[in-house]
Amino acid sequence: MKHARAPKTPDGLHYRARRERLLQTMHETYGGGLVLMPTAPELFRNRDTLYPYRSESCFHYLSGFPEPEAVLALSCDRAGETRHILFCREKNLERETWDGFRFGPDAAREMFSFDEAFPISALEEQWPTLAMNQPALLTPLGLYPDWDRTITQRMGSLRAQARAGNAPPACIVDVRDALDPMRMFKDEHEIALMRHAAAITAQAHVRAMRFAKPDHFEYQIEAELQHEFLMHGTQAAYPSVVASGENACVLHYVSNRRRINAGDLLLIDAGCEYQNYAADVTRTFPVGRRFSAAQKDIYELVLAAQRACFDALKPGAPFHAFHEAAERVLAQGMIDLKLIKGPLDAALETGSFKRFYMHRAGHWLGLDVHDAGHYRRGERGETPTLLEPGMTLTVEPGCYIRADEDIPAAFHNIGVRIEDDVLITKDGIDILTATAPKSVAEVEALCAENP
Ligand code: GLY
Ligand code: MN
Ligand code: MN
Repeated sequence: MKHARAPKTPDGLHYRARRERLLQTMHETYGGGLVLMPTAPELFRNRDTLYPYRSESCFHYLSGFPEPEAVLALSCDRAGETRHILFCREKNLERETWDGFRFGPDAAREMFSFDEAFPISALEEQWPTLAMNQPALLTPLGLYPDWDRTITQRMGSLRAQARAGNAPPACIVDVRDALDPMRMFKDEHEIALMRHAAAITAQAHVRAMRFAKPDHFEYQIEAELQHEFLMHGTQAAYPSVVASGENACVLHYVSNRRRINAGDLLLIDAGCEYQNYAADVTRTFPVGRRFSAAQKDIYELVLAAQRACFDALKPGAPFHAFHEAAERVLAQGMIDLKLIKGPLDAALETGSFKRFYMHRAGHWLGLDVHDAGHYRRGERGETPTLLEPGMTLTVEPGCYIRADEDIPAAFHNIGVRIEDDVLITKDGIDILTATAPKSVAEVEALCAENP
């Protein structure tokens, strides 16, 4: 996939169709209303240096508009008449000389298929007219403290106008309650973007396997991953975990500073983000040698657990079924290797296997690495989400054995996770990251390319 053709960027009408669906839901639920969705604020890293900018995912989902300081307003009256409005930064040639291009309201309206667009400064003045006497306001709550404060203050000032016959929206609800269920089902554009992110990510893992040698520092392997991501116009979707030896047993290890020893396992959890869509992949391989017998036992066990997960993934299956499949296989394997006591039912009942496998087997994946969407529903979470075609998730069983005294030395510091990204199809699954090698033979062959 050296020069894979990038999928087409969805056009403005595509985002508009998503907005129409949200408006339709709002109309059916509340008889109209107003959506106010801000994008993410810019964040300082230190002094006057900003972090690279990334839009808020729901805002992106509804607009595709990439700039900070923007709010979208979608309104729907009782008759179902809708307005799609964008508030964004104005053109400013001086600022553009320093910081780069800005669409400005006119070009943004056209490009992203809004009915109207105004400078962000106009929101303050227009907000009362937009919100007044609406049955509902849908906006993120508890996402950005400044936005929460703004909303509360604006609601207060609308309430003060009650004597003039104006009322604030009768209810305020979190817009994500309506958006998250939409985001759980990926359309063909999203799937194309995710396939692209997955393919580049798989290639980055291959590059890392070919490159890694004893005495390399973990950050040097991270540099290889970054090279592959950046060369394809993407960036890391989350801080890469490049964890060798004992670090492989630290689930969120990201400092990546250790020098790698011959015979260490190297666990790499890294994925790129392409046009805001993430891949999330983990591969584990031995550096400078073949797998030791104990490393291979654990690696094959995790592979078997992942296969069991794949078998449990199909339309109609409850979300957590594949996690339970992973637990069964891993717990039985740990019993067979005498890491925990049997029988299997007792190990599952007591959770003794969690000493070596303590996380879930996967999560929704999309615009966010841990993507929007519910896993259970009902008052007490008693109704599991059932899998349906179009959903995308990770499948990532693992096993992590620290150097504890009661564990045979051969198993010390073996941390293995194998993580792939999967699309639920009408017949089962499509593994988006299948080109990242993972059988023992494939992995050893790639590592041997760098003697
Ligand atoms: N890379 C984050 C995760 O695997 O959940
Ligand atoms: Mn993951
Ligand atoms: Mn991961």
